[in-house]
Amino acid sequence: MTKHVSVNFVHSDGHKTVVKMAPGFSVMEFAREADLPHIPATCGGSMACGTCHVHVNSVWYDKVKLEKDSLEEEILEYEKGYKPNCSRLSCQIQMNEELDGLTVNLRDDELL
Ligand code: FES
Repeated sequence: MTKHVSVNFVHSDGHKTVVKMAPGFSVMEFAREADLPHIPATCGGSMACGTCHVHVNSVWYDKVKLEKDSLEEEILEYEKGYKPNCSRLSCQIQMNEELDGLTVNLRDDELL
C-alpha cells in the first residue's frame, strides 16, 4: 500500500488546510484536491500561467528550491507577490516522501 504524504496550505488568517495524497502528484494537484481557490492553475500545470504561485515556508525552501529552473523563475518574476527567497510555482513541486509535511503559504492577492 502506498504511503500518503501531506501538504499543509496555510491561509492568511493562519488556519491550515492539510491535504494527503499519494506521492508523485504536484503541490498544485494537492491544492486542486481541496478545491483551494487561491490556486486556479489555469494552464493545468504546463508552466504557462503562473496562477499556481505559492510562498514556500522558510523551513522547507532549501529542500524545494533546488528544482527551480530559469523558466520558472522568469514566470514568477512577473507574478504579484513575487519573493525571490520563497516563491515557487506549485505545479513544479513534485511531492515525494522527503517532502512529506511540506508547508506553503497561500496568497490572498490571487483571489482578487
Ligand atoms: Fe500554470 Fe503552474 S499551473 S504555471
